[in-house]
Amino acid sequence: MKIAIPRERRAQETRVAASPDTVKKLIGLGCEVAVEKGAGAEAAYTDAAYKEAGATLAKDAAAACKGAGVVLKVRGPEAGELAALPSGAVLIAMLDPYRAGDELKAIAEAGLTAFAMELLPRITRAQSMDVLSSQANLAGYKAVLDAANEYGRVYPMLMTAAGRINPAQVLVMGVGVAGLQAIATARRLGAVVQATDVRPAAKEQVESLGAKFIAVEDEEFREAETAAGYAKEMSDDYKQKQAALIAETLPRMDVVITTAAIPGRPAPKLISAAMVKSMKPGSVIVDLAVETGGNCELVEAGKVVTRHGVTIVGHLNVPGRLAADASMLYANNVFNFLSLLYDQESQALAIDWEDEIVTGTLVTRDGAIVHPALAPASEPPSEPPSEPPSEPGAEAEAETTETGPEEAGSDD
Ligand code: NAI
Repeated sequence: MKIAIPRERRAQETRVAASPDTVKKLIGLGCEVAVEKGAGAEAAYTDAAYKEAGATLAKDAAAACKGAGVVLKVRGPEAGELAALPSGAVLIAMLDPYRAGDELKAIAEAGLTAFAMELLPRITRAQSMDVLSSQANLAGYKAVLDAANEYGRVYPMLMTAAGRINPAQVLVMGVGVAGLQAIATARRLGAVVQATDVRPAAKEQVESLGAKFIAVEDEEFREAETAAGYAKEMSDDYKQKQAALIAETLPRMDVVITTAAIPGRPAPKLISAAMVKSMKPGSVIVDLAVETGGNCELVEAGKVVTRHGVTIVGHLNVPGRLAADASMLYANNVFNFLSLLYDQESQALAIDWEDEIVTGTLVTRDGAIVHPALAPASEPPSEPPSEPPSEPGAEAEAETTETGPEEAGSDD
């Protein structure tokens, strides 16, 4: 079976869906792999490295995809890319399923059997395929460094002959995978960290990383986690109480990293323009939720802006700012997913259409959009169609490696 790796064509997409290492593994399974020339260039994977791993190099996407049974991509194909993909092939990518309605329709009409990696159920068996976790983990790390770049001060407390520098006060809002990594990274750099979330399970995780948890811990908070481990949209009453707590906290903060998200919905607005105005001059907000509308009212997608003396960072595709590692982890996720669909003995796809990982991610088949949560004209679901994490928190912490007890010392 031939597997194609075309070059990504969307603006700012620096990642690639296979690494030389996964190419080697695919060839080890008996597959033939074609990589479009330059596909890994922005992720520091050279054509020579893919060739050495056993891939053939194709001059363009059409040549890479010709006769392929499987096409691996990072992002879903735009209209201009679809012609290269052979009808009947399996497409595995991050398809942005809740927002890409027309694109999904075009993918279905092109005769592709498409799997959206974002819809993977968060069950233990699927952990090694979890692209949301692998990419969010890197985004959380990079957000802290992006904030450091914009911040005119340092993170750690420094005692120098010329005077004492106080440690930066960092607030992390939304403590899923990205938020946990942001806490761990900011702590490693010497900041004093506080964090907030609406899910009670986050409290223990935050504290185990040596940060202080702050939240409106009322009755609604105690019920805010869905069966799938995600946050619910909170009531207006809760939002008001939460806003008061945030308004009171922000003037003391130097750096704020926001990651709050509700799958399939716009990001909750947590920082208003008035709250930005109340912050110290020179402070920094990095809004990782910018692609779904942002947690900060004043963030601008793809820009770094200064409003009321506060720098607000709205970089798009933050994992793509760490293209080599993001590609390496994504390629491993996709390889593990493909292994589930592939039968080594017959050297062909052997998809178990009843497997919950397959039903959870399958978006188009036989010319139609088939995912129950994406049926045409349906509203985005109140929660994604996945099973509860088997051990919520344990898995998310596993993603934030090197964040063991040694990280959990007391704040300076
Ligand atoms: P996400 O990207 O959907 O959201 C980020 C964070 O924002 C979440 O912690 C959420 O509770 C929080 N949030 C939402 N609305 C908020 C609000 N109004 N104010 C403050 N915070 C708000 O989350 P992510 O990173 O995808 O993780 C979601 C859950 O899945 C977590 O419980 C995590 O532990 C679990 N998980 C399970 C895995 C598994 O394999 N079993 C793997 C990875 C994560």
